[in-house]
Amino acid sequence: MVKIVETVLRDGHQSLAATRMRTSDMIPMLEQLDEVGYFSLEAWGGATFDSCLRFLNEDPWERLRTLKRHVKKTPLQMLLRGQNILGYNHYADDVVAEFVNRAVDNGIGVIRVFDALNDVRNLEVAMKTAKSAGAHVQGALVYTISPYHTEASFLQVAQDLKQLGADSICIKDMSGLLSPYAAYDLVKTLKDNMDLPIHLHTHYTSGMASMTYLKAIEAGVDIVDCALSPFALGTAQPATEAIVAALEGTPYDTGIDKEKLYPIAEHFRTVKKDLADEFKLNTAIGIDTKVLSFQIPGGMLSNLLNQLKEQGMADKYPELLEEMPRVRAELGYPPLVTPTSQITGSMAAFNVMMGRYKIVPREVKDMVRGKYGRMPAPIDPEFRKLIIGDEPVIDHRPADDIAPQLETLKQELADKGYPGASLEDVLSYALFPEVALAFFAQRA
Ligand code: CO
Repeated sequence: MVKIVETVLRDGHQSLAATRMRTSDMIPMLEQLDEVGYFSLEAWGGATFDSCLRFLNEDPWERLRTLKRHVKKTPLQMLLRGQNILGYNHYADDVVAEFVNRAVDNGIGVIRVFDALNDVRNLEVAMKTAKSAGAHVQGALVYTISPYHTEASFLQVAQDLKQLGADSICIKDMSGLLSPYAAYDLVKTLKDNMDLPIHLHTHYTSGMASMTYLKAIEAGVDIVDCALSPFALGTAQPATEAIVAALEGTPYDTGIDKEKLYPIAEHFRTVKKDLADEFKLNTAIGIDTKVLSFQIPGGMLSNLLNQLKEQGMADKYPELLEEMPRVRAELGYPPLVTPTSQITGSMAAFNVMMGRYKIVPREVKDMVRGKYGRMPAPIDPEFRKLIIGDEPVIDHRPADDIAPQLETLKQELADKGYPGASLEDVLSYALFPEVALAFFAQRA
């Protein structure tokens, strides 16, 4: 029996509707979603936290409590970027631990945690805290393709995640790079060598996702992520209804009654149309197999093109496509996922606009300094010298260098007119200071 995580409340609209779904769009269907029989409802974390505060004038913590009030049986799942929490930098351990505790207290049951570089040291605090808070801790390995990423190296990451207390392992294929037969082999390797449930998360970006699920299922994968059809396909997940139907009457039957899904999907079809109208979104995103050649996630291709257009250098686009994998190799083959995708992408853009490494953003230097963790591949010493000169490289866990921040943040917030703010507000402020302050002002 295969289980399903429903992503319509998080990754579905993050991928296809710029994360603009409001809590009020979700509420009417929550009881029905709770009755379907999903493994979990992915509903929080990722970009939703930022989007609530920045675009929707909503308190993300209030959203979580509201969801929890309506969803009584099915665990609510969130996506957490390890020591980055939901931001783009490393935070101090006390902030990470408090965030995880508040998330669980407010209703999260399953925490999927990943590190962009697969450096599990960046997951230690989040995983340990989630575990003692009583959540299901899902350790995710970020899937990518490079000469340094092999089945053996992924198995090693998975085993390290198990050591840290993972209750299940997720293969996180954020760009839809995992091909059906590679999925079969990887899942088989993990299943043969560990006794934890294996979970697969992919995106339709390259057009292979349903085939990838089918082969992974044949190899014994336990759980797959799907989105109800209005928020499926394109750059999102395979459609829940289709996967349920495809497995019906087989040994992999999900046990889900697809009739229950249709009215819920109908509701979200209307929601998608409303969001597209209100926020002027292009929700008709097709597949793009170019992602397989350049390994650049779909959304990023258009961002990079826009960056070039702004500089009047749109003609450099083909050059940029070639530059991106080169930069990635020089930087030690980071998987391209937040925040490494943005860092690698802007470096490549600077290189084609200004000349190679004429301007090097701080984040790139920090990555070479080891401040994001261990790179998957060794960085050539000559290249390192070009970027950071003779500066030392960190070989310990980056957050070891970050002093506790929570008390300082509370004080800062008090100084800005919010004495005695809730821990939840302090954490919102920790992650997105300006955006959170603007939200607090409006809320008051
Ligand atoms: Co995703």
